[in-house]
Amino acid sequence: MNTPRIAIIYYSTYGTNYGVAKAAAKAAEDAGAEVRLRRVHETAPADVVAGQDAWKAAADAQSDIPVATLDDVDWADGLFFSSPTRFGTVTSQMRAFIDTLGPLWMEGKLVDKAVTATTSSQNPNGGAESTLLGFYTTFMHWGAIIIPPGYTDGVKFEDGGNPYGFSTQPGELDDIGERSVAHQAKRLVQMSAKLAD
Ligand SMILES: Cc1cc2nc3c(=O)[nH]c(=O)nc-3n(C[C@H](O)[C@H](O)[C@H](O)COP(=O)(O)O)c2cc1C
Repeated sequence: MNTPRIAIIYYSTYGTNYGVAKAAAKAAEDAGAEVRLRRVHETAPADVVAGQDAWKAAADAQSDIPVATLDDVDWADGLFFSSPTRFGTVTSQMRAFIDTLGPLWMEGKLVDKAVTATTSSQNPNGGAESTLLGFYTTFMHWGAIIIPPGYTDGVKFEDGGNPYGFSTQPGELDDIGERSVAHQAKRLVQMSAKLAD
């Protein structure tokens, strides 16, 4: 079996999804994958970011993370996406990145990629599920293979039980969150390896 290649592609204004992405990257590496951790390009004007202390601090903390490119998506057997919920859907920054993937889609290079997604929302019922389903609608257009966590591990009965993907509220991950993200990432690695065989 080849070593599965996993790209963790995320956006995070205040750091929550950055924390999720780092936890996913560590878990994927622990599961034997080659991993690229990538943030999507910030589309908000620099003065807007600088105008909010919390946004600026989170942006500074992520400045060493490479920006996601089409090559990262092409390279990967499996893709782990994470984005905050904005008005019930993914952020415009994430959508802007997704909208650059047309050339890969036209060449059929997104077909059969293993994909999964996570999110955060201020309110537990503030649109996390619709955000994940929004991701998955796009993935179906690609002909990708969606790898949801479902209830495939006991941690899904502790983490709020979103079967579409881990979802959390703003802030640092707690132990349950770490374990849930690790389970989802490990499952992506395992299914990516099977599909890439
Ligand atoms: C413009 C905007 C729209 C938002 N819309 C929602 C929403 O629909 N539901 C919700 O629960 N939280 C909403 N939030 C809160 C974000 O989901 C929250 O800031 C995010 O999960 C934090 O993730 P981050 O730390 O990775 O940036 C919104 C925040 C902003 C700035």
